[in-house]
Amino acid sequence: MNKDQLIKQAKAVLNNNLQNGFTIPRAKLYPFQWNWDSGFVSIGFANYDVDAAISEINSLFSGQWENGMIPHIIFHSENETTYFPNWDFWETTVNKGASQAPKTSGISQPPVLGFALEQLLQKNPNNEKILAFAKMIYPKMVHYHRFWYNYRDPNQEGLVFIYHPWESGRDNSPIWDDALDLIDLENANLPKYTRQDTKISDAKERPTSKQYDEYVYLLELGKRHQYDGKGIAEESEFLIQDSLINAVLIRSNEALINIGKRFNFDTKELEEWQTQSIKQYNAKLWSEKLNTYTGYDLRQAKQFPQWEIGGLTALFANIPTPERAEKMSNYLADLMANNYFIVPSFDVHHELYDSKRYWRGPIWPQMNWMIYHGLKQYNFQTEADFVRESLLSLVERFGFHEYFEAQRHLVNTTHGGYGGDNFSWTASSVIDLLLCP
Ligand code: DGY
Repeated sequence: MNKDQLIKQAKAVLNNNLQNGFTIPRAKLYPFQWNWDSGFVSIGFANYDVDAAISEINSLFSGQWENGMIPHIIFHSENETTYFPNWDFWETTVNKGASQAPKTSGISQPPVLGFALEQLLQKNPNNEKILAFAKMIYPKMVHYHRFWYNYRDPNQEGLVFIYHPWESGRDNSPIWDDALDLIDLENANLPKYTRQDTKISDAKERPTSKQYDEYVYLLELGKRHQYDGKGIAEESEFLIQDSLINAVLIRSNEALINIGKRFNFDTKELEEWQTQSIKQYNAKLWSEKLNTYTGYDLRQAKQFPQWEIGGLTALFANIPTPERAEKMSNYLADLMANNYFIVPSFDVHHELYDSKRYWRGPIWPQMNWMIYHGLKQYNFQTEADFVRESLLSLVERFGFHEYFEAQRHLVNTTHGGYGGDNFSWTASSVIDLLLCP
């Protein structure tokens, strides 16, 4: 298939998922608006439909809380029944500053919106609509970052925490297993609930029932504390300074500092956060043993011991020294030499690697988009090209899936596209990788 055909198909996927001013990740499986999905979708739209890009971000901000949080789901429709947990299960009225129109979830997601806004501006440098939109939305974006630093950094370290795997975007990564095992499910007295995802997607490609119980447990814990970081930090078994969340926050800080300077906004607050965050990221999240960055479990006061994809996004955020970046890239060279598409989400040599199950192994398109740009910034052009080609060839072969098989021999013999199909961020990542290589 040639480039134009692929772009045409990708645009059709986005078009089908486009609702009234925003894009759902995928019909039925994710029938509302998701935070970081929309950030990536706006980057795709920025290449050919400025109005849709603006509207995508604006719709997200319609659900911003008074404390600055952009929730991970905005439930623009209250009648959609194919998703659990729906707006009523979240009961966000426990927090006085929560948005009620639209209804939302009570947690957040990787803060990609700052760098998404920068992409909109870079792709359309003289577009009056984008310039006016950027000036209007800028203070709200800074307020979103203020949420992270005010509510999720109790020791003022410059590294923010998450208390739910859904916030990480990498729901069932093996790196969470140990922290989740601290939860006493037997005495948790969980409310009754029915999963919807496994009615739509193959259960073997989704999180397990135990993991869903743990997700519901942490949701209830957040609710008990009015979704306020302070009480949560005291009680939650799951309390993580995540490599991806913090790298994305740092990358978006940088974007907002650049935009702020251009429009003469005061960027002092952002610059203070940024200096401390980069310093601490390098000091606390680098693992000599793994040769990459990794998350830190605040409850158990230890780094994660496994290689996992989040650390690679530090390249995208310009965090490592060239020496560290070189060490990080060796892992990719090893995968390339051993017949993998890159980059799988978890260490392929680890016993917990599962090539089909969601974040325990498969390749995710939006991660590849960030890693591609990170590798390019550090002049690892061969690896960057390999990342780009991996995604494009998988999409060409299997369609716009949610995630993909990484092992070449399995791709050649069995099914290689997993999770939902016709997926929005897969389409937008493809559009951008083809139009802005
Ligand atoms: C899901 O429902 O699978 C999402 O990842 C949580 O937002």
